Amino acid sequence: MCGIVGYAGGKEAAPVLLKGLEKLEYRGYDSAGIAVLNDGKIEIAKAAGKLQVLRDLTHEGQTVAGLVGIGHTRWATHGEPSDVNSHPHISKSGRFAVVHNGIIENYQQLKAMLQKKGFTFLSQTDTEVIAHLVEFFYQGDMLDTMIRLTNELEGSYALGIISADEDGKFYAMRKDSPLVVGLGEGENLVASDVPSLLAHTQEVYYLNDREVVVLSADKVEIFDTNRERLEVTATHIDWDVTAAEKGGYEHFMFKEIMEQPQSLQKTISPRLQDGRIVLDDFHITADMLRNVSKIYIVACGSSYHVGVVGKYILEQSTRIPVEVDIASEFRYRDPIIDERTLMIVISQSGETADTIAAMREGKKQGARVLAIVNVLGSTIAREADDVLYTWAGPEIAVATTKAYSTQLIVVDLLALKFAELLGRMDEAELAEYYRALQALPQQLEQTLADKEKIQYWASQLYNKHSIFFIGRNLDYAVALEGSLKLKEISYIHSEAYAGGELKHGTISLIEDGTLVFTLATYQPLVEKIRSNAEEVRARGAYLVSVAVEGDEQMQEVSDVVFTVPRTLPLLQPSLTVIPLQLFAYYVASQKGCSIDQPKNLAKSVTVE
Ligand code: G6P
Repeated sequence: MCGIVGYAGGKEAAPVLLKGLEKLEYRGYDSAGIAVLNDGKIEIAKAAGKLQVLRDLTHEGQTVAGLVGIGHTRWATHGEPSDVNSHPHISKSGRFAVVHNGIIENYQQLKAMLQKKGFTFLSQTDTEVIAHLVEFFYQGDMLDTMIRLTNELEGSYALGIISADEDGKFYAMRKDSPLVVGLGEGENLVASDVPSLLAHTQEVYYLNDREVVVLSADKVEIFDTNRERLEVTATHIDWDVTAAEKGGYEHFMFKEIMEQPQSLQKTISPRLQDGRIVLDDFHITADMLRNVSKIYIVACGSSYHVGVVGKYILEQSTRIPVEVDIASEFRYRDPIIDERTLMIVISQSGETADTIAAMREGKKQGARVLAIVNVLGSTIAREADDVLYTWAGPEIAVATTKAYSTQLIVVDLLALKFAELLGRMDEAELAEYYRALQALPQQLEQTLADKEKIQYWASQLYNKHSIFFIGRNLDYAVALEGSLKLKEISYIHSEAYAGGELKHGTISLIEDGTLVFTLATYQPLVEKIRSNAEEVRARGAYLVSVAVEGDEQMQEVSDVVFTVPRTLPLLQPSLTVIPLQLFAYYVASQKGCSIDQPKNLAKSVTVE
């Protein structure tokens, strides 16, 4: 979704803003713009389309001079993607410019009020009210004006604002939308996400809701809504610039698929100590766990699919009932929660609006919230009672791969820890799991080595119009993710079904040549899924299966078999998903799709 960058320093702002916006492209956007402050004047350049349009318009930023500026990539919510709806938006007199990420829910009331006062509106956006509102409130003190905004604006916002009356500085604040301050040497910045800051600094401050930040080249001041100055405590980010670069790969997605063995290693290693699982600062005792009557796992998109895996493995390993919910449903379904509820929220970004709202609802009703998050300092990470980070590093491609895989591992670790605490696995069984976990990165490497075979079959099958994925138990959970990956980046219609369910209706769609992916890696139910595979084959399906090495059963019924190494059943999804990620990637590549930024999608969905 929308991305924001702001800069004050010794360099020309426009090229810095363009570079920063480039690092936010992954979020998904349809127009871009910048506003630069120069000698008491604000100059704006903005345009619908990709960043390149803005680059061309400004000759790579050369035509817009000034050392302070704000920039924006817009993912349209209110009003179509167009030049006029692009940010920055400017106030009536042209003396204030605003970029915004989020949704102002009371913008219509504010707009009506401003129209009565003589303000006219050029765009269809909710953001334009902020620009006029700033001008309406401003009486020579921008800090006051910002604080006033916090009282008037309802909804979510991350804002960057420049005022022609205040040379050399800009203002920013947030509520329920991400914004990070970059603390540099002789330059300071804000951005929606850390990769935009890395070329300048690895020291950041995560803004809290309703904190107002004033940035100039050599100073960062933060105030609360009582005008009290707050201490700026820096967090050091452990990523360098190259972490968010393609590093010779054609696409971020492919780079991130290939990085998975290392990511898994980073997630596992610190948590396996002396033959025991140590879950960072998440201290839960056997007694506390015995008191848990229900676990809710709540998430969106691929993180939800990790939750589906989680339901199977946590129920198996704890015998505590687990419900897994899509966050946007959970928050409005009046779930039954009390102090005996453990809520696990899963989110790569830690900023997904529905997941945040669901988490807050859970907390309000007394649940203990454990978050599984990738982005340090994100809203979910800060508000949850406990956090387990996935340590996947920055993930740039919209379609998640390494973040999904590391989330899976954290869920595995959790399930094993819970089983250990509850005495549901004996020492020998646990030791076997620890060994299997340690071997997993190497097995993943081995699975990735088979990529040419998958590439070949993708080149043979990329022109299908509809593809089904079937599996049982954990394979069903992985089928959901395989199907989503394919849809997201290749735009091929696809559905995932529990193997036994297809015949209750959807089997009517199977005809000669329909491609069905059968996931047959969950050992206890291989025979069952094989029968389901036979059912679709008998109706003409072309069958591609994923099976574990050495399992001959699926060879006989399949047209093509992709094999993955065998591990213990609870860990198998980490390997089964790999051929599906690669297949989606190669199909999209064959079709010439925009792999890293698929149409209509955003990486971090910060609106409801
Ligand atoms: C978007 C992304 C998905 C992601 C989902 C949840 O839809 O495109 O890849 O799974 O949001 O995001 P989160 O950051 O909460 O995991």
